[in-house]
Amino acid sequence: MSTATPVAVTGAEGFIGSHLVEALVASGRRVRAMVQYNSFASHGWLELLPSEVRDHVEVVMGDVRDPGSVRELVAGCDTVYHLAALIAIPYSYRAPRSYVDTNVTGTLNVLEAVRDVGAARLVHTSTSETYGTARTVPISEDHPINTQSPYAASKAGADRLADSYHASFGTPVVTLRPFNTFGPRQSMRAVIPTVIGQVAAGERTVTLGDLRPTRDFTFVHDTAAAFLAAGTAPAGKVVGRTFNAGTGGEISVGDLVTLIGKLMGTDLAVVEDPARLRPAGSEVMRLVCDATRLREATGWAPAYSLEDGLARTIDFFRDPAHLARYKTAAYNV
Ligand SMILES: NC(=O)c1ccc[n+]([C@@H]2O[C@H](COP(=O)([O-])OP(=O)(O)OC[C@H]3O[C@@H](n4cnc5c(N)ncnc54)[C@H](O)[C@@H]3O)[C@@H](O)[C@H]2O)c1
Repeated sequence: MSTATPVAVTGAEGFIGSHLVEALVASGRRVRAMVQYNSFASHGWLELLPSEVRDHVEVVMGDVRDPGSVRELVAGCDTVYHLAALIAIPYSYRAPRSYVDTNVTGTLNVLEAVRDVGAARLVHTSTSETYGTARTVPISEDHPINTQSPYAASKAGADRLADSYHASFGTPVVTLRPFNTFGPRQSMRAVIPTVIGQVAAGERTVTLGDLRPTRDFTFVHDTAAAFLAAGTAPAGKVVGRTFNAGTGGEISVGDLVTLIGKLMGTDLAVVEDPARLRPAGSEVMRLVCDATRLREATGWAPAYSLEDGLARTIDFFRDPAHLARYKTAAYNV
């Protein structure tokens, strides 16, 4: 594959997208990065990347809801990594239609554009949230889909479209289903930055939602490596298939707070904020990944322990320039 041919990334300015862009450039690729058009001319987290990385990144402002801007993005690219999405579960209770527009119609636009220009590979991003509370653990790709939030439903709808394009038109789609990812640059909508950010801002009492749910937290460098694996493995091993990416570990939110307190050298008290609790039927109580399929097809395996990943995330949030980008006292939906 020629390194002069770019790869396209949607959602490139976001948390996982910006790490994926770095990993792609490190692997020798040029990246055409879609950044959602905004009036601040902000390139999001891509602005934090060193110039030796940015020199290999062409930013294209656009919107996945607009078919023309997606087609322009993918034209001439051999591989497309589609990460753009609305991702917050609480905000999906308030603005569900925008989730359908972005996550379902946006994915349809990406599929159409890939089909149209004949790109060799599309890596479509799903989420472990599509499984709902685990019925059996660890969760393999054969686990039933149970969408407990409008967010999960919109992502599952996008997954079904991706499957249908492969079945109907032979579109070369690989679906990657990451479990909860964490690391530098994550927004305060997620629990790990919420805890670390509050402590880094000097709080010793952290405000959270439900402490009981368990998750399989995967460090973002491992998730980015899983994307690369899905985008570069031989077609016969991955195209037309769905792959979980997660560590197989499990920790409750309550135990996570204790662990973060230990790593940050402080005892933490927790206040449960009723405003952060989700409707009982919507809260996913347990997610644990079985990533055997991805390992067997690509050799991918996580390289970071939870403690290693947390230490790197703590370092990021302790930098005052980084912390200043966050609103640690607010509930960020
Ligand atoms: N963070 C996790 O734990 C996790 C787990 C599983 C799956 N995912 C999936 O990974 C992907 C990236 O998530 P993230 O955590 O980096 O979130 P993020 O919010 O940081 O990134 C999403 C990006 O999509 C962009 N976007 C939103 N609407 C758009 C539009 N209409 N047009 C163009 N761009 C648009 C946003 O600007 C943002 O940069 C998403 O598809 C998400 O569903 C995330």
